[in-house]
Amino acid sequence: MGKDVIIACDFSSAETCLNFLDQFTEEKPFVKIGMELYYAEGPSIVKALKARGHKVFLDLKLHDIPNTVKKSMSVLSNLGADIVNLHAAGTITMMEAALEGLTRPDGTRPLLIAVTQLTSTSQERMTADLLIDHPIDEVVLHYASNAKKAGLDGIVCSPLEAGKVHDACGKGFLTVTPGVRFADGEIGDQVRVMTPAQAKEIGSDYIVVGRPITAAADPVAAYRRCVAEFVD
Ligand code: C5P
Repeated sequence: MGKDVIIACDFSSAETCLNFLDQFTEEKPFVKIGMELYYAEGPSIVKALKARGHKVFLDLKLHDIPNTVKKSMSVLSNLGADIVNLHAAGTITMMEAALEGLTRPDGTRPLLIAVTQLTSTSQERMTADLLIDHPIDEVVLHYASNAKKAGLDGIVCSPLEAGKVHDACGKGFLTVTPGVRFADGEIGDQVRVMTPAQAKEIGSDYIVVGRPITAAADPVAAYRRCVAEFVD
């Protein structure tokens, strides 16, 4: 899979999501299904999107004891998602267990990536609320190298960190980066943001874009603007 724009389909029902995607008549965007839509609709939404020809990133951010994550990953593996994820904070042991659970009997599996620090988390909040007193980019790099040690395919991080992650973990280690905003757009609750063009410049492999596309007056035009800035 090459560089691509992934639309964060943060909708509360399958109907809203599918109606939204119906606007895309000329392309089949890579889509991300998060907790809201998955908890509302269950596995059927993943199957419906795959049946329509979309690639799916199932963003459920698993974080539990290794055995529970392993068993849950083995269930998710059968849904046909292209990428699934977990929190690197669950430790290397948990990530290794996840990978084991995800691997099908024939040896194939979806890509598995780890969330490092959420892009909504600032240095200040990480230090005060989580008692992590290292600089945030050091924490992200450490979590990334843990994910690599565990055998994962990449991480979710801010585009601001993607270059350093590639330097530390290699070019083939995927960086999937939310927190993307147009230069002239709203930031919302994201803290560490970048434009699609800057994310390309720094070497992100995939950008995850939600509200700048889903809340745009013309979502197809906003998607194409992202593709033009990031991929073309
Ligand atoms: O609307 P917006 O572009 O902010 O959407 C970003 C998407 O990426 C949301 O679905 C959010 O849950 C997700 N995400 C994130 N930061 C992370 C991991 C996932 O914003 N570190």
